[in-house]
Amino acid sequence: MIKVGIIGVGTVGASVVKILKDNSDIIEARSGKKIVPVVGIVRNISRNRGVSIPLSTNVDDVLKNDDIDVVIELMGGVNEPLKVIKNALENGKSVVTANKALLAYHRYALQDIAGERALGFEASVAGGIPIIKALREGLSANHIESIKGIMNGTCNFILTKMMNEKVEFKDVLEEAQKLGYAEADPVFDVGGFDAAHKLLILASIAYGIHANPEDILIEGIEQINSEDIFFAKEFGYSIKHLTIAKKCDNKKIELRVHPALVPTSQMIAKVDGVMNGISVIGDRVGETMYYGPGAGGDATASAVIADLVDIVRVGQSSPMLGFKRDLEGGGFTLLNSDEIETKYYMRIKAADEIGVLTKITSVLGDFGISVDSFLQKQDKQDKKIATLLFSTHTCKELNIQKAMKELEKLPTCKEKPVMIRIED
Ligand code: HSE
Repeated sequence: MIKVGIIGVGTVGASVVKILKDNSDIIEARSGKKIVPVVGIVRNISRNRGVSIPLSTNVDDVLKNDDIDVVIELMGGVNEPLKVIKNALENGKSVVTANKALLAYHRYALQDIAGERALGFEASVAGGIPIIKALREGLSANHIESIKGIMNGTCNFILTKMMNEKVEFKDVLEEAQKLGYAEADPVFDVGGFDAAHKLLILASIAYGIHANPEDILIEGIEQINSEDIFFAKEFGYSIKHLTIAKKCDNKKIELRVHPALVPTSQMIAKVDGVMNGISVIGDRVGETMYYGPGAGGDATASAVIADLVDIVRVGQSSPMLGFKRDLEGGGFTLLNSDEIETKYYMRIKAADEIGVLTKITSVLGDFGISVDSFLQKQDKQDKKIATLLFSTHTCKELNIQKAMKELEKLPTCKEKPVMIRIED
């Protein structure tokens, strides 16, 4: 029998306890052993969690309990769980965690501490989708060309509603919070940080790249409005919040998280609502696509228990981040965000008067930016104001950033221009 201690019995922890009991037949058949949760650690013991295991507020009831074989860390935060996991590993226990923020910063340190001991983290990225297993084991024969995903259910829920119904960002965010999709602080979701944490974890497995959230381009969906939705529909795009890891020619990796206009014909554009979807292109396998629930108690618990079963079967069968040794000829480094090249969409609110368009296109021309398509919408309230919507041909991120600053300075521009990248 394998005894498990759970630190943090919230929605996911409670689902882990329930699934271990309800699906014990299949779990035992697959792992070869009975897996039994024996204690849960909580901060507030008076809250009813609907679980059938003893609860305690003392973390040592798990960490210093010699009977416990595996620790499941579901407490959230970064510093405290880091200490707890370190302690558990040093006490000879295997660990399973769903903590993406912790891994976004400390995955390499944890890999060193874990050594040969098992540290499972399937649940940290895209909830119930086994994307870590797919990348680390299933695609291990491939050089990974790119990973493009929708990895935040809250953003996808909001954007899908904005595309399908005439609703604005703020109203839908409230609904997502009520439905329990959003993190405790929704800025993690809508600001892109949650997706960035997940991207960094996957990028380590795909490319062995060691970066922190501060090193990469992260943008949220707060600025998107109904005019952007209008342009997207008019030109056959859907707006999605994407996490992108892409190999460039020169041993550089592009890592970025931002909203993007995606042609509606692409599979990723069809991932709607709270669902997650990830496209991975390998040099031998071609494109593979993973779709499923990225959040929620049972879906996340499904991934936690998959790690448990793996640990019971074989212990640490794979190196935690997928590499037994460094790549020959040196590894990858991060591409500077200024060097990213893509197409862009821009929204500019300006005075509707003679010469305005010339001034704007002249600024774009100064930075080598060529316009691909253009739409103009007159303001409903003020007939002297128009919203100008452009898309560009491929150009450099640095140039578009500089052009946006110049455009903002034009007296005819009525508010800060907004830009969304286009991912064809
Ligand atoms: N808040 C996250 C989401 C949950 O919306 O996808 C899983 O990380």
